[in-house]
Amino acid sequence: MTQLFYPQVAQPQMPVPSAEHTTHHMRNYHGQSYTVYCTDEETQFPDGKLIVSRTDVNGIITHANEAFVYMSGWEKDELVGSPHSILRHPDMPAIAFQGLWDTLAKGEKWHGYVKNLRKNGGFYWVYATAIPNIRNGVVEGYTSVRRKPDRNKVDECTALYAQLLQQEREAAGK
Ligand SMILES: Cc1cc2nc3c(=O)[nH]c(=O)nc-3n(C[C@H](O)[C@H](O)[C@H](O)COP(=O)(O)O)c2cc1C
Repeated sequence: MTQLFYPQVAQPQMPVPSAEHTTHHMRNYHGQSYTVYCTDEETQFPDGKLIVSRTDVNGIITHANEAFVYMSGWEKDELVGSPHSILRHPDMPAIAFQGLWDTLAKGEKWHGYVKNLRKNGGFYWVYATAIPNIRNGVVEGYTSVRRKPDRNKVDECTALYAQLLQQEREAAGK
């Protein structure tokens, strides 16, 4: 991945959900280990809303709008200053994020379907667009805007991502 190295920013630790959940041991891009918990509770993307975030060049959140706070379940001051992987759902294959970072590194716009993890262990699907913020020819950070996803595409991506994840696990010998 073309993500830059940044000084270690702590990966926020989500609380253990009171609802029935599965436990997943994760490792972020910087090799930090952390644990997430998943329930099967889906939150539908609200009609007429957009989830907006901005990050610095290293993917550390610098801005979160109201809809982002609401959908993620984290407080605004928990989101700002955290790596965007605070939302990373274990059902997402690494190659999806590699595509995002590689596209942004070329100065291009990326879009794709993402399953995001909420603070309470639930999830929500988005159709995301991410662009580099360029000032005087220099990339200063990135902006991402998420829209309500097409349900058929979500079903397609659910199957596709499960396949990709399986391939990644096999390749890693797991
Ligand atoms: C503008 C922007 C928005 C992002 N949005 C998300 C997101 O909604 N969900 C997510 O899991 N990762 C998102 N990422 C990617 C994360 O930075 C990260 O690469 C990903 O969660 C995988 O974690 P890892 O890089 O530690 O392996 C975003 C990155 C950028 C630059």
